[in-house]
Amino acid sequence: MSQSLATVAYLGAAILFILSLGGLSNPETSRRGNLFGMVGMALAVLATVFGPRVSSSGIAWIVGALVIGGGIGLYAAKVVKMTQMPELVALMHSLVGLAACLVGFASYVDTSIQLQGAEKIIHEVEIYVGILIGAVTFSGSLIAFGKLNGKIGGKPLLLPGRHWLNLAALLIVIWFGREFLRAETVEQGMLPLTVMTVIALLFGIHMVMAIGGADMPVVVSMLNSYSGWAAAATGFMLSNDLLIVTGALVGSSGAILSYIMCNAMNRNFISVIAGGFGSGGGAPAKKGDAAEPQGEVVPVAATETAELLRDAKSVIIVPGYGMAVAQAQHTVNEIVKTLREKGTNVRFAIHPVAGRMPGHMNVLLAEAKVPYDIVMEMDEINEDFPEADVAMVIGANDIVNPAAQDDPASPIAGMPVLEVWKAKTSIVMKRSMASGYAGVDNPLFYKDNNRMLFGDAKKMLDEVLAALKG
Ligand code: TAP
Repeated sequence: MSQSLATVAYLGAAILFILSLGGLSNPETSRRGNLFGMVGMALAVLATVFGPRVSSSGIAWIVGALVIGGGIGLYAAKVVKMTQMPELVALMHSLVGLAACLVGFASYVDTSIQLQGAEKIIHEVEIYVGILIGAVTFSGSLIAFGKLNGKIGGKPLLLPGRHWLNLAALLIVIWFGREFLRAETVEQGMLPLTVMTVIALLFGIHMVMAIGGADMPVVVSMLNSYSGWAAAATGFMLSNDLLIVTGALVGSSGAILSYIMCNAMNRNFISVIAGGFGSGGGAPAKKGDAAEPQGEVVPVAATETAELLRDAKSVIIVPGYGMAVAQAQHTVNEIVKTLREKGTNVRFAIHPVAGRMPGHMNVLLAEAKVPYDIVMEMDEINEDFPEADVAMVIGANDIVNPAAQDDPASPIAGMPVLEVWKAKTSIVMKRSMASGYAGVDNPLFYKDNNRMLFGDAKKMLDEVLAALKG
């Protein structure tokens, strides 16, 4: 393939990636968005493999890597459950970070490129910054993976003087950067590069370990953004324009998502970028104190729940992580259909950080074919709870916790929540009195107008549906 044809293919792929991002912004166009992304990526890979920069002997290596990597990806996509998706995404981000580090070291030791003067300095700055971002992304994403799948506890690790530690790390990295650029041989440059990499790895671990459970969504989207910038840095090191464009697209869309997440969590974007988060949300979750159930609850049976729903004129359903775990979305849709057929006004209230990844609930409801026009964002529906007869909470906890508004010492203080307790009756469906992801008790459960429907969400909703139809 000639250089000009490869350039045209790269341009086509970049346009398809932009169209893909545009499509993914709306549930109705998201399938098309995914398709654009897949075609764009296929085009990018083909143009690279058959492009002028790959020799015929190199193709065998690339095909081998594609078969192994593609095989692992295909296997992972088949076995990973929807609820494990955020962990998988965190793991994928760590691979982008690792790739940026490896490419950085490889470009540095590659003596086939002899650059002089300003070009040499620019190339070395690209390597240093690329490895820095890559290492932070790699270790930070691995910790995020551990936190999301529960292998590492959600409690923030707050080292004494941690801001000073971070500042010291930054100064050391800048100083070693100067040493790196002054090095005359690869051997001399290796020491500052390696020290910086170790510091960046430790910083990534420290940064994510310091985040409390409730702030994880911001971190996940920030790491998403970092992985984009790591890919862009790799593009600079390899002089690959498409990788620069794609990395910048991922990096900037991830940054916009982080900004949206910050707003949703009522966190300050600047303090998040500066690493001052995790402490901004009040005291860390204290197990055995805030997490202990504090009060009496009123349990209900599925038949009583069905009666309450049958008598209601207006119902708002709040899905959360538990609906995803129980895979209850199809039964929810059946209940919604049954209620709507008899004229009940049924709507969904979606919290921006419900579940474990952005858009988690929207994806599940779309899969169950719930009509898009009854699925409302938090801001659109929060004021309507006082008029609702029943607010049905399905496997959600933190996102409906009134302590976020009432208790300034709560780890989730300040986070906007869905005000389900303002409905005439609220029903919370979950298996036990266990706390949610943030590890805090929920005063909603003890309110006079609240009922608890204990059990697996799918099983209980099946019973509710049967009672509604019976
Ligand atoms: P959570 O606060 O985690 O609460 C989910 C509840 O579902 C749990 O209390 C659990 O109680 C219940 N549950 C689990 N399995 C169930 C089942 N099979 N049937 C019925 N109930 C079940 O979820 P949420 O309200 O959706 O809030 C999300 C939390 O995750 C927030 O703290 C958010 O910050 C965090 N987070 C979000 C994201 C994104 S981007 N969305 C990313 C990382 C973290 P039982 O064990 O008693 O059943």
